[in-house]
Amino acid sequence: MNSKHFAIRTYGCQMNVHDSEKVSTLLEDSGLIAAASESEADVLVINTCSIRDKAEHQLYSDLGRLREWKAEKPGRIVGVGGCVAQQVGDKLLSRFSHLDFVFGTHNLRRVPAMLAGALEGNRAAWVAEDKSQARFDLPMRRPQVPTGIRRKAFVTVMEGCDMFCSFCIVPSTRGREISRRASEIEAEVHALVDSGILEITLLGQTVNAYGRHDVRRGNAVAAGTMPFAELLTRLNDIPGLERIRYTSPHPLFFDDDLIRAHQELGGLCPHVHLPVQSGSDRILEAMRRRYTRDHYLGIVEGLRQARPDLALTSDLIVGFPGETDADFEQTLDLVRDAGLIDSFSFKYSPRPGTAAAEMGEEIPAELAQERLMRLQDLQREQTLAYHQSRVGQEALVLIDGASRHGGGQISGRDPHHRVVNLDAGADLGLEPGTIVAARILEATPHSLLGTPLLPAG
Ligand code: SAH
Ligand code: SF4
Ligand code: F3S
Repeated sequence: MNSKHFAIRTYGCQMNVHDSEKVSTLLEDSGLIAAASESEADVLVINTCSIRDKAEHQLYSDLGRLREWKAEKPGRIVGVGGCVAQQVGDKLLSRFSHLDFVFGTHNLRRVPAMLAGALEGNRAAWVAEDKSQARFDLPMRRPQVPTGIRRKAFVTVMEGCDMFCSFCIVPSTRGREISRRASEIEAEVHALVDSGILEITLLGQTVNAYGRHDVRRGNAVAAGTMPFAELLTRLNDIPGLERIRYTSPHPLFFDDDLIRAHQELGGLCPHVHLPVQSGSDRILEAMRRRYTRDHYLGIVEGLRQARPDLALTSDLIVGFPGETDADFEQTLDLVRDAGLIDSFSFKYSPRPGTAAAEMGEEIPAELAQERLMRLQDLQREQTLAYHQSRVGQEALVLIDGASRHGGGQISGRDPHHRVVNLDAGADLGLEPGTIVAARILEATPHSLLGTPLLPAG
């Protein structure tokens, strides 16, 4: 497969972004070269998301357009992976005759072999579930440090989801919950830090459920896992690791030890993304979220005591079947009561095979849209107010690169995960991957503007 160039198009969450990194490493290890753009690629892999109807349809419209891409250069190959691949499986091959291979979310390792087969004209789909630890056993991405790269990395700690929220397709696209051995997680983080990584984000569909099945069965030692807060404590001890983040935690597993970790662990960032979905107990129950509004607010209170400067963000759904005006008002109230500084909000989208898709009681599309707009207006106000409260403060910014606004600004993230654009950053030659102290000068609805504080002399 020498000298073939590949590109990967990624949709969906951070787990998908990280899976694409893993596929990329596997392809490089088998002799392929990352293409500068899709037009220069011989092989295109699409890593798909199925969380809402629109995400799934994106694949079908992409595949339609790729007929032309394939026709432009004979021998081109198209592969599809990710959550739609897992959900639809080999039916994708019969539906799209120009599609060469399909791999499920547990089968990343098979991609080089499937590609080799495809180059010989063999079309295949591989979507079997793998319940073993073997699926964590992938070559680590070689971060090209020290220059020209953001010194951040994702680290998988668990995969799958056993929660079966009534609206969600993830349990069927990612399979059952499985936690990776702590020793392997530690070894990976050590290796990343040795290669210059400063910040890690621990990944899992319900990341703080890490180890829970083993702990409950009393065999965590044999399984090599432990409660999530303990894992954080171990990682916090790794010298040279500046920042630890994790996503996404579930409120049901947000225990006191995890709250305490936010007080005690210096490396743990003062930002928690804790999806709540709704502020109405009735809707939370119908969603099968297994917590109440008060329970959620109790966690938030605990976190604020542990870490008064905590930045809390969340995910919200509007227009869930049967959602009344009163339910929706409770969601707005919760956004205020919890003091969300930002959120992702979505209109409910029925997904095949989920319990909510069978509930009836659909909310008219215009009403759901109106609720979404009201929710987003409220959030915009709160985000801006939070940003304004930061003006005058100092922040440590880990530089990502040039700002989207151009004009010589560079951009990075503070420990609260806010985007901070720095004036004069480019003139000062601040490289991606450096941490710089800055004074916050201005607030906008989307970001903070700061100026670097350079050491005297
Ligand atoms: N595991 C995380 C969520 C992962 S999915 C958790 O439990 O919180 C990311 C977000 O997509 C969810 O938080 C939810 O807000 C949204 N989402 C999931 N299914 C959806 C659906 N059917 N319609 C609309 N939004 C959905
Ligand atoms: Fe989906 Fe619920 Fe699992 Fe999150 S916890 S991935 S929303 S089923
Ligand atoms: Fe999408 Fe799958 Fe992630 S459905 S949100 S890519 S787990």
